[in-house]
Amino acid sequence: MTDIVILGGGSGGYSCAIRAEQLGLSVVLIEEDKLGGTCLHRGCIPTKALLHTAEIADAVRGAGHVGVTASLGGVDAGAAVKYQQSVVAALYTGLQGLLKRPNIEIVFGRGRLVDKNTVEVDGRRITGKSVVLATGSYSRTIPGIEVGDRVMTSEQALTLDRVPESVVVLGGGVIGIEFASIWASFGSKVTVVEALDRILPGEDEWSSKQMLRALRKRGMDIRVGTKVDAVQETEKDVTVTLSSGDTIDADVVLVAVGRGPRTDGLGLAEIGIATERGFVTVDDNLTTSVPGVYAVGDIVPGYQLAHRGFQHGMFVAEHVAGMEPVRVDGDIVPRVTYSHPEVASVGKTENAARDEFGTATSAVYDLGGNGKSRILGTAGGVKVIRAREDGPVVGVHIVGDRAGELIGEAQLAVAWEALPSEVGAFVHAHPTQNEALGEAMMALSGRPLHAHS
Ligand code: NAI
Repeated sequence: MTDIVILGGGSGGYSCAIRAEQLGLSVVLIEEDKLGGTCLHRGCIPTKALLHTAEIADAVRGAGHVGVTASLGGVDAGAAVKYQQSVVAALYTGLQGLLKRPNIEIVFGRGRLVDKNTVEVDGRRITGKSVVLATGSYSRTIPGIEVGDRVMTSEQALTLDRVPESVVVLGGGVIGIEFASIWASFGSKVTVVEALDRILPGEDEWSSKQMLRALRKRGMDIRVGTKVDAVQETEKDVTVTLSSGDTIDADVVLVAVGRGPRTDGLGLAEIGIATERGFVTVDDNLTTSVPGVYAVGDIVPGYQLAHRGFQHGMFVAEHVAGMEPVRVDGDIVPRVTYSHPEVASVGKTENAARDEFGTATSAVYDLGGNGKSRILGTAGGVKVIRAREDGPVVGVHIVGDRAGELIGEAQLAVAWEALPSEVGAFVHAHPTQNEALGEAMMALSGRPLHAHS
C-alpha cells in the first residue's frame, strides 16, 4: 500500500506529491489529462502570457508619448497564441522533470474512489494509507446559454487565433476583467455585463470603483446591475439580450460567471464524503468527513487560486507525514487580477473589517503622487485598512499597473499583524511603486509625506 494516493495532478495535487516525496512518503499521482492542470494549461499561465502581449501592444501604442518612434501595425492573435503555448510548453517540460522522482508513480486515467483507501483507474485498483482529492474546477455556464463557436468560455478564448471585432463579456469577475483587458488592448470593442452592482464584487468597493473608472477610460462599455436574458448565435455574429431590454450584437461572447468544483462522478457520496453544492467539506486540516481522505485546492470552499492550491497540497503532505504545518488560508491569501490596470489585495475589505470588528479606518495613497507610477503612466492607488485606531493593518488593496508585484510586502504586514506605523517606519526605495505602500502606511499612522489630503 502506497502512503498517499492523489487524485488530480494540478497545482494542489502535484505540490502535495512533491512535498510528500521530499518527506520520504511514497506517492501515486493520478491525472486524466496533463500534469499541471488548469493553472498551467488553461488558466494562470496562458492568460498572463496573453496579457503580456496586450501590455506590449499598449506600450507600442503609447511609445510616442515617451519619445520612442514606433507604431502598432496590429496584433497577430495567432502568433500571440503560439507565444502563449511556447511559455506553457517550457513550464510543462520543467514540471514533468520535477515530478520524475523515485517515489512518485504517475498514473494517467480517470480515477474514482471505491472506498476510503482505494481509487480505481481503468480497472486498476490503487490503495493508499491516505487519499487526497485534488480534482480542481471547470468553467460554469449560464443555464439556457449554449457554448458554441462564438459563445465561449475562457478555455476556448485562449486559443482564439483572431482579434474579434467586438466582444461581450458576461461576468465582471476576475476572468471577465482579464479577458476584457486583453481584447481591449488587442483593439476589440469590449462590453462587460455584470449582474451585481459593481465589477470585481469580491474586492473592496474602492477597488471596484477605481477599476470601473479606469476601464471606462480605456473605452470599455461596462454595464453593472445587468443580467443576460438570451444569447442568440448565428453564423455571422451573436446577439445578446440584456435584462434592461437592450440588445448588443457582437463577434464573440465570453461566459465568465464563475468556476464550479469538479467533484461529480468521483464516488464521494457513495463513501460518505460530505459536500455542499459540490464543494468538499473539510476541517482545519483539510480532512474530509471521512478520516484519511483529504481535499485541496478549488474543490475546497474559498478562493479558487493556484497559490492557495500549492499551499493546501504542501500542507496535507506535511500533515500526513506527522508534522504540524501552519495553514495559511482565508483572506491572508493574496489576490491579483492581472488586467491593465491590475488589482491586488490581501486581508479584509473595509466593509468586512467593519462587520467583524465594529469599526474600521482607512487611508488611500494616490499613485498620482508616486514618481515611478507617473513614469510608467499608471493611475490608481493603495488603500490600507486598520480595524482599531491603534490596531494592526487588516487589509491592503492596490490598483495600478504592476500592483501584483506589490502585494507581497502587504501580505507580510497583514499576516504578521503589523502596525501601520511599523511598516511606515521601514525605508522604501525611491523611486519605486513599492514606496506607495510605505506612504499609505505612513498616512494611516498619521504622518503622511507625499500625500495631499
Ligand atoms: P468570479 O466569481 O470571479 O466572477 C464571476 C462574475 O460573474 C461575478 O462578478 C458574478 O456576479 C457574475 N455573474 C454571475 N452570473 C452572471 C450572469 N448571469 N450575468 C452577468 N454576470 C454574472 O468568477 P470568474 O471570473 O469566472 O473566475 C473563476 C475563478 O477563477 C475565481 O475564483 C477567480 O478567483 C479564479 N481566477 C483567478 C485569476 C487570478 O487570480 N488572476 C484569474 C482567473 C480566474
